[in-house]
Amino acid sequence: MAKQSGEVVCELKHVDKVYEGAVPTPALLDINLQVRRGEFLVVLGASGSGKTTLLNVMGLLDTPTSGQVWLAGRNAADLSEEQRAALRSRYMGFVFQFHYLLPEFTVLENALLPCNIVGKQMVSANRERVKELLERVGLGDRLKYRPSQLSGGQQQRVAIVRALANNPELVLADEPTGNLDSKNGFAVFEMMRFMNRQTGTAFVVVTHDERLAQEADRVVVLEDGRIVKDEVQRPAMTHEL
Ligand SMILES: Nc1ncnc2c1ncn2[C@@H]1O[C@H](COP(=O)(O)OP(=O)(O)OP(=O)(O)O)[C@@H](O)[C@H]1O
Ligand SMILES: [Mg+2]
Repeated sequence: MAKQSGEVVCELKHVDKVYEGAVPTPALLDINLQVRRGEFLVVLGASGSGKTTLLNVMGLLDTPTSGQVWLAGRNAADLSEEQRAALRSRYMGFVFQFHYLLPEFTVLENALLPCNIVGKQMVSANRERVKELLERVGLGDRLKYRPSQLSGGQQQRVAIVRALANNPELVLADEPTGNLDSKNGFAVFEMMRFMNRQTGTAFVVVTHDERLAQEADRVVVLEDGRIVKDEVQRPAMTHEL
């Protein structure tokens, strides 16, 4: 499960994003960013500075107006829609501000959803691992609960395990603690940090909380669509265990 750190898992080269419309809105301007295996990166910036747009472009949920997105050593522009979908479902995991758990599914079923999307074999290959992840985040005795029977923080923990279900190289999280009080937000953040150290999965986490940013390996600050600061606070963990 451990991954070798150092390799580039995602790279943006001279990425611009302009939303077309009655008034074209520039959202990203000349973004150059490399995310390496094992790295835990936090993105800070005021509302409207381009954070969500950045994650959407990295996660192939949106295409840049110009520039390149590289994932797994491949230029996304050279891939078919099918190959892009495969990268989204196998190579990456997503966490959003609202957890989007399915109410009629149990905790375990929700966490296994990304495996189900890939296929039955993926479910059987990952079931034990996903159970173990749920245990590690304190939900071992909640596997059969429905989301409505969990607290907000517990629901978001399920969403994070779900993002890790396919053992991705990269997790993209857009304000994953934005909907939680500060205590629960910190606990969920710590959990992501723990998962990052355990699995070597790289995390890119958007937050407004500067206190959380202090826990990251690296902090990128966006201002009006540009990176105005990109600071390594500590070297990323090496995963050679
Ligand atoms: N679909 C869209 N169409 C047009 N403009 C958009 C669209 N989505 C975002 N924008 C604009 O792009 C800019 C960046 O938006 P983005 O959502 O990336 O900001 P953000 O940093 O995530 O903000 P917040 O902290 O409020 O979530 C904003 O000026 C916004 O108005
Ligand atoms: Mg946003």
